[in-house]
Amino acid sequence: KNIAIFASGSGSNFQAIVDAVQAKQLSANLSLLVCDQPGAYVIERAREAEISTFVFNAKDYPNKEAYEEEIVMLLKNKQVDLIVLAGYMRLVGSTLLSEYEGRIINIHPSLLPDFPGKDAIGQALAANAKWSGVTIHFVDEGMDTGPVIVRERVRIEENETRESLQWKIQEIEHKLYPSILQMLLTKGDALQNEKARAN
Ligand code: GRF
Repeated sequence: KNIAIFASGSGSNFQAIVDAVQAKQLSANLSLLVCDQPGAYVIERAREAEISTFVFNAKDYPNKEAYEEEIVMLLKNKQVDLIVLAGYMRLVGSTLLSEYEGRIINIHPSLLPDFPGKDAIGQALAANAKWSGVTIHFVDEGMDTGPVIVRERVRIEENETRESLQWKIQEIEHKLYPSILQMLLTKGDALQNEKARAN
């Protein structure tokens, strides 16, 4: 199966997936990185791993539909089966969704539906929450709202800092994302079935 990863930032989750493929813990072809931030470190990581990359700047396009049409063409060209959002800081629009809904997943650093959107870790600390965690879910048109595939909890300690919580959450993400991908890809029609069950 062919995977495309969408990322905007440092790409530590991208790297964890690359490493899992190289270690043969994940049987997939990483066909494409899509990145909307021309300076992002994830681009370096993709070059290092020799993965094709499409970098775009949303400002160069009249609207979301225009750049998503270009992305859809690339995805079809590479026969991508599954889109993996890993720190992609944009809402997926109807152009991508109408082609790939049920085959787009995202990872979010909170126990959704708590703390959706930006800075989920900061939100959890500001709310004095006792627990946070990681959620992997299917993507729909909302912000972090689609059907949940898995959630893993993290205890927020009394003396927790942003750095310590981020470290704990990322440690979980880097294990959980590759293993869930492997599960989704090996379970035959899993993608559609999972979606039906989650609904
Ligand atoms: C992760 O914490 C992920 O949950 C969120 O964005 C962050 C991306 O980090 N959606 P990285 O770029 O993979 O290091």
